[in-house]
Amino acid sequence: MGFVDYEVKGNIAVITINREKALNALNSEVLDDLEKVFDGVDVNTVRCLILTGAGEKSFVAGADIGEMSTLTKAEGEAFGKKGNDIFRKIETFPIPVIAAINGFALGGGCEISMSCDFRICSENAMFGQPEVGLGITPGFGGTQRLARTVGVGMAKQLIYTARNIDATEALRIGLVNQVVPQADLMATAEKLASTIAGNAPIAVRACKKAINDGLQTNIDDALVIEEKLFGSCFESYDQREGMANFLRKKDDPAKVKHVDFKNE
Ligand code: CAA
Repeated sequence: MGFVDYEVKGNIAVITINREKALNALNSEVLDDLEKVFDGVDVNTVRCLILTGAGEKSFVAGADIGEMSTLTKAEGEAFGKKGNDIFRKIETFPIPVIAAINGFALGGGCEISMSCDFRICSENAMFGQPEVGLGITPGFGGTQRLARTVGVGMAKQLIYTARNIDATEALRIGLVNQVVPQADLMATAEKLASTIAGNAPIAVRACKKAINDGLQTNIDDALVIEEKLFGSCFESYDQREGMANFLRKKDDPAKVKHVDFKNE
């Protein structure tokens, strides 16, 4: 659809922001398309998503500077809310979302990648929050998620200086989990997504929710969140079969088999 492609590959799917001429910059239309695509994902069949950008140069080069250049204060705030609402939808999406960063991830590009569960990137990737050089703050969650991802001091330094960093530095500071050659990026992302999709979907979703919700509160309340989600996995087919498979293996190693988790 429009500026966002969606391709289902078995039980994983790839969402591609496709506005290559503008280095996949996020204007209102792209944001709307993105939201529609996420709303249309069938989370009962798709178990893990990959988010990437079209082409070999850019993941997302930020929010659209042309569109933002004439905004009033009120319009600026509304544009920030629009991005924040969609990125929060990605962050809290029931199934994991892996960012496969294939080039520039600047401003809103770095921000959308941080709303994903984790990030892998190609060797040519470039990250940064260049907003203060444009006279604005990061406005799609960057002031909040960068500090939570790489620590307050590093986030402040990167945001105040508006300095871009390469893939090696992004790996060093923990912004990305893995750097691979551009040619291997999607295969690596798909392999990771397939590994995740092969595990019990109810449990994977519960882990995402436990980590996300727990990080928003104190450790005592967070552990209660974990207990409830832990409990919610029991009595499911996947829990019974996953544990029965382990016990069968103990009795007789010849009985080792792949568990076909059913999401029920
Ligand atoms: N918004 C709108 N258009 C953009 C864009 C953006 N963020 N980034 C790139 N483009 C467009 C360029 O205008 C250009 O279009 P034309 O061909 O029509 O002129 C096209 O993409 C190709 O870009 P360049 O010619 O600039 O390519 P380059 O290789 O010379 O440079 C770049 C690449 C370093 C990424 C450079 O394009 C750049 O600095 N882009 C802006 C990056 C940026 O500042 N992003 C943050 C935006 S603010 C933000 O995101 C706020 C927020 O938090 C919500």
